[in-house]
Amino acid sequence: MTPPEELPDALPDVDPDDLRREGLVVPPASPTADPVPHDGTGRVELAFTVLDRSPGAAPGQESSTERRVRVPPGVTVFDSASWNGIAIDSTCGGHGTCHKCKVQVSGSSPITRHDARTFSASELESGWRLACLVQATRDLEVLVPPLTTRPKAATVGVGRQVILRPAVQKRYVELEEPTLEDQATDLDRLLAAITDLEPRPDLHALRRLPKVLREGDFKVTAVIVDEELVDVEPGDTTATRCAIAFDLGTTTVVATLLDLVTGTPVAVASMLNRQQPFGGDVISRISATMMDPDALGRLQTAACETLAELAAQVCAEAGVDPHAVYEVAIAGNATMTALVLGIDPEPLGVAPFVMTTALPPSVLAEDLHLGVHPRARAVFFPALGAYVGGDIVAGMLASGMDRDKRTRLFIDVGTNCEIVLSDGDRIVSTAAPAGPAFEGGAIRCGMRAADGAIETIRLGDTVELGVIGDVEPRGLCGSGLVDAVAELVKVGLLDASGRFVPEADAKEIAPALHDRLTMIGQERVFVLHRPTPGADPAECVVLSQRDVRELQFAKAAISTGWTLLLEELGLEHGDIAQVLLAGSFGSYLSAASAVRIGLVPKLPVLRIVAAGNVAGEGAKMALLSVRERAGAQALLEEVTYVELSDRPEFNDRFVEQLSFNGG
Ligand code: FES
Repeated sequence: MTPPEELPDALPDVDPDDLRREGLVVPPASPTADPVPHDGTGRVELAFTVLDRSPGAAPGQESSTERRVRVPPGVTVFDSASWNGIAIDSTCGGHGTCHKCKVQVSGSSPITRHDARTFSASELESGWRLACLVQATRDLEVLVPPLTTRPKAATVGVGRQVILRPAVQKRYVELEEPTLEDQATDLDRLLAAITDLEPRPDLHALRRLPKVLREGDFKVTAVIVDEELVDVEPGDTTATRCAIAFDLGTTTVVATLLDLVTGTPVAVASMLNRQQPFGGDVISRISATMMDPDALGRLQTAACETLAELAAQVCAEAGVDPHAVYEVAIAGNATMTALVLGIDPEPLGVAPFVMTTALPPSVLAEDLHLGVHPRARAVFFPALGAYVGGDIVAGMLASGMDRDKRTRLFIDVGTNCEIVLSDGDRIVSTAAPAGPAFEGGAIRCGMRAADGAIETIRLGDTVELGVIGDVEPRGLCGSGLVDAVAELVKVGLLDASGRFVPEADAKEIAPALHDRLTMIGQERVFVLHRPTPGADPAECVVLSQRDVRELQFAKAAISTGWTLLLEELGLEHGDIAQVLLAGSFGSYLSAASAVRIGLVPKLPVLRIVAAGNVAGEGAKMALLSVRERAGAQALLEEVTYVELSDRPEFNDRFVEQLSFNGG
């Protein structure tokens, strides 16, 4: 596949129809954009070939990198790329108006009128399309041409557009050398040459200034972060300006290295949080600090080491000097934020669940031993409550919860599930303790979403399993668990109360599957995978009756949460225009299965959208735009936190929500 001839930049072509997409809203497609229906289940694989052209290289002299990503069907090629740190040209942020996000896709894809305006007939014939208008409903090969423009607006967030205005600024200046007639101080000489900013010097910069000025023949670059002069560098280094966005999860930590000049992600890496030995959830980590006076220090060190290792990894992958990273943003829940700062988390773990501060101060990245520029700052997101933390505020920022006028429900599914509901005017939020089921905890064959985990299941005359890594199934991850239960409810082997039906009924209801319903000891189980024909059920990957109960409790906690928030705003299910499923688990959940088990409101699956790693996206936004950063702080005033546990109706609602009557 070859890139198309460069077409002149189209002027923004604003058509009210095109503006339907604000955030990851209604897919921007016109009715002709994607006639291929999908039922919201399974995964599709996108094989990206990303071309890169070094400055000065002629067309045709590109280098290429291959990336394979798996996403739920229906996500656009543009969002699939964006979630995975693959940059595609854009100035409209995926709104379908800039006509820049040109990619070549394999096979035949529907042609929208925007494609017809952007490409020649032969380009259309050879698969060129606008990435934000192609929904991935099947496996695709996608060729991404080299970036042609430096976007003025970065394409981060859930399809949101951010006007680039990072806190990190650089100014290259060429100064007159001092003489006996001109004995102005080095600092005055430098500041006088910077006409559009009035930075205050810090001591580190002053210590370096005389030497760097003279070594650089008075041609230097001033590095300014939030109005503070933090460094001077010899020569012109304005082309190198980076930052790292961290999503500091309890389980997984993700780092994205951003080029602040172009606003694009240049490397992404993730790893398990090194705090794992202290327990899988926030409560066990808080308990560790209560039982052992040294644990807080060790937990802080483990978090900092995780961040530092990822910082080194993304810098190495992108070939960037870690000292060119001048700022980092950290989005984490309230416990993770307290632990990485070395703040005692105990009050977060016991009633009345109080945070030390809702607005953590920024600190020097050096104090966290991150190994980036010595004067780089680490900025944190504010938190709404002990269990609706900075990661959710970042996610709300990325998904535009405070800007969209439609009624939207945001659910970040995890051990602690955060729920936000906005009717376009008021925003309410709450947290629901869902327990570890979605992360494979407390599940007989549960495991994390790693190689060998069953992630999708379809039951019919046979059992179709989607396994991560295409290897022998070893266990069941959260999305596989939800699929398993939803499919068993669908075929009738599980009744609405969550019980496996009696043996005799099973034979009649699902003759092709009933022999998979068996016993391990005293417990009924459904065999999902047998390593060898006739294998002992104890050797197989199974779903047990107790697993179903665990999932019931988890989903009931979550659905009680959004039910009470709907009541709070006087809304019904049908009023919800969009459900955003966030977080690493939420994004990979089958929308159809989530509806069937009642984890989300009973809505058409196309209204249920995987939102990706929104906490990480929010962290990127805060680094790319000081305006967005201020927006995150404003959310503290705009969102009302609703405590559910003291509601008199909580227990009744919870019991109602235990059944599988979603559809
Ligand atoms: S048209 Fe602008 S990103 Fe697709």
